[in-house]
Amino acid sequence: MVSPSTRKCMLKERVMDLVTQTTILPLLFGCLGIFGLFRVLQRIRSRTYLRNAVVVVTGATSGLGRECARAFHAAGAKLVLCGRNVKALEALISELAGSCTSQGQTHKPYMVTFDLTDPGAIAAAAVEILQCFGYVDILINNAGISYRGAISDTRVDVDRRVMEINYFGPVALTKALLPSMVKRKRGHIVAISSVQGKISIPFRSAYAASKHATQAFFDCLRAEMEQDNIEVTVISPGYIYTNLSVNAVTADGSIYGALDKNTAQGRSPAEVAQDVLAAVGKKKKDVLLTDLLPSLAVYLRTLAPGIFFRIMASRAKRERKSKNS
Ligand SMILES: NC(=O)c1ccc[n+]([C@@H]2O[C@H](COP(=O)([O-])OP(=O)(O)OC[C@H]3O[C@@H](n4cnc5c(N)ncnc54)[C@H](OP(=O)(O)O)[C@@H]3O)[C@@H](O)[C@H]2O)c1
Repeated sequence: MVSPSTRKCMLKERVMDLVTQTTILPLLFGCLGIFGLFRVLQRIRSRTYLRNAVVVVTGATSGLGRECARAFHAAGAKLVLCGRNVKALEALISELAGSCTSQGQTHKPYMVTFDLTDPGAIAAAAVEILQCFGYVDILINNAGISYRGAISDTRVDVDRRVMEINYFGPVALTKALLPSMVKRKRGHIVAISSVQGKISIPFRSAYAASKHATQAFFDCLRAEMEQDNIEVTVISPGYIYTNLSVNAVTADGSIYGALDKNTAQGRSPAEVAQDVLAAVGKKKKDVLLTDLLPSLAVYLRTLAPGIFFRIMASRAKRERKSKNS
């Protein structure tokens, strides 16, 4: 004789068996399958998007730009590489021209040299860039410089110089190339910003301001260009192990010339370039490429600004103290 409670338990077990055997497991595998298929389709779409695309990379002579050139070249893109250092561009082009890849056909890159602080040179460079392949699919505004100094010591022409290279230069180049993209109803503008385009840390005022302006400009551009089928991606990395701090400008306009500890501990530019490639391939709109702590700081700035400001003020005090000691 089976007691009512045992019968209840048996019934429960049978129902559970039925659910796991007939519904849940197939449903789970179905979901995983759909997710896997989605990922595969996304990868194929991304590869197709980048293969044979005409991609312009500014600041291709060094750091992240050089690694982006390598990554996009390996993905089969037709490159136009920009910078001021002719020898570095020539060396990169002969390296890329001699490299082979598993992804199929690659193309020999072109180079266009110009200084982002010179509006006339930017206009002429845009014409030259368009002559390389006849059109541009993707513009990666990567070139930039950093800054180190206290606001109270910094000459205004230094602020202007940083804004010129990091903000007005990319804006001018974008505006010069945009009409041809709008005409084709096809194009993609990428801005390499920084986490400092979302939060401001002390003694980086000019740099943070230029990157905040970059974020704002390209956010507006995204909204305005959607109807013309132009994609806009803003990428905001944290520290990358490049020459950015070495080439940074200081309060009196001289070059900083030192590799900062944070920069030296940053991610490898090749790794970040792969993230840029993936973000562009997936046509992402806004990408933050940082560790947990800077990401939390971005949320803290929005959700609890008072706490964020207090942390930044004590950081400024600490840095001033260590500089004076
Ligand atoms: N490194 C980081 O920790 C970090 C973090 C976040 C974001 N980023 C951003 O990543 C981008 C690339 O920087 P990076 O780290 O690769 O630094 P980098 O190694 O110093 O490279 C900077 C590039 O910008 C070009 N450039 C500088 N001034 C120029 C000018 N007046 N006209 C034309 N090109 C100019 C340089 O080319 P030439 O010398 O040939 O002119 C160089 O190729 C920058 O926008 C930077 O703000 C870097």
